Amino acid sequence: MKTMSISALVLATATSILAAPSPVVPALEPLQLTNLNAAIYSTSPPTTCLLSFALKDPNTNTDTKCSAYWSIGMPGNKTYNCSDKAYQLHLPNGIYDIENIDLGVSRADGTESGRSVVSGDLWKCEKQEYPKAQCKWDGIFSLDVAPST
Ligand SMILES: *[C@@H]1O[C@H](CO)[C@@H](O)[C@H](O)[C@H]1NC(C)=O
Ligand SMILES: *[C@@H]1O[C@H](CO)[C@@H](O)[C@H](O)[C@H]1NC(C)=O
Repeated sequence: MKTMSISALVLATATSILAAPSPVVPALEPLQLTNLNAAIYSTSPPTTCLLSFALKDPNTNTDTKCSAYWSIGMPGNKTYNCSDKAYQLHLPNGIYDIENIDLGVSRADGTESGRSVVSGDLWKCEKQEYPKAQCKWDGIFSLDVAPST
């Protein structure tokens, strides 16, 4: 009797140790954005910014491309389809400053969604003749994603 209750206890403990670290939803790998680039080409208003990148999703093994045009300084919140329409690029707050871009990427089926501000030392910006400018991300931009409820 004593032996049985100890092994039952050991079993219960082992089960809870196994259960604890496995979350309900499997962890998602971050999306990998390469050739992340924003540019203002025109010298006459409206000052239009073209944002583009190649997207690799290690979770679904998908590669696609995403891009967006935005008039600098215009308020707004817009969603763009990527080449693979399962993925969307979001500009939740428009673009005010090419050196500081708030962007999001999500999957249409709600399984992945992430948002981040692109800025800092790895966001290499080159001012040209005003208002021309170009910024490129040095390396791979990692975007953490989670299921959108
Ligand atoms: C984006 O893709 C969806 C399909 O996933 C389609 O219904 C929608 O019309 C597309 N929007 C644009 C602007 O192409
Ligand atoms: C952008 O619009 C969508 C719906 O169109 C909304 O769900 C989202 O919260 C908005 N984002 C911001 C930053 O306002």
